[in-house]
Amino acid sequence: ETTDAAALLLSRIRDVEDHPEPGVMFKDITPLLADPKAFAVLSDALAVIAGATGATKIVGLEARGFILGAPVAVQAGLGFIPVRKAGKLPGATLSQAYDLEYGSAEIEVHAEDLTTTDRVLVIDDVLATGGTAEASVRLIRRAGAEVVGLAVLMELGFLGGRARVESALAGAPLEALLRL
Ligand code: PRP
Repeated sequence: ETTDAAALLLSRIRDVEDHPEPGVMFKDITPLLADPKAFAVLSDALAVIAGATGATKIVGLEARGFILGAPVAVQAGLGFIPVRKAGKLPGATLSQAYDLEYGSAEIEVHAEDLTTTDRVLVIDDVLATGGTAEASVRLIRRAGAEVVGLAVLMELGFLGGRARVESALAGAPLEALLRL
């Protein structure tokens, strides 16, 4: 259903043509972040998902997953754990490599931040190919925690990321507030 909340969120996402390269339509969330009403609506919606999944921790994916996930963690009374691009975290890390269209990438988490009793909700802004989200699910599991869901502001349906992530999630929900 297209709710008022979804309509508000959609109205605050800006399409930027040919960014970061020709032929790509970039979905810019900075107008949404700059609108306190829209940002609160987004945070509330994600906090409802956190509650429904019974999450005990929020994992945010660099960089926009940090911005979206942090207020949800505070609102839901849960710890926030950053999953970063390789080389940024100072402590002992676990890392997970994944393929990009050209080349590969690697993400990391502090090993001590997740334990076998944790139930993790992963938050990011966009699900595109699903490569980042899938890698995060594998990484969190390898750290010993359970992934109870993955929530994104928007899902770009034409890239087929959902199937890839759902297969990694093994039954846990993939929630997208907007499907574009
Ligand atoms: C973007 C986006 C997601 C990811 C989605 O991040 O914020 O994290 O790509 O793409 P995928 O589904 O194809 O993996 P980006 O790599 O641009 O990092 P940034 O937020 O640090 O700029």
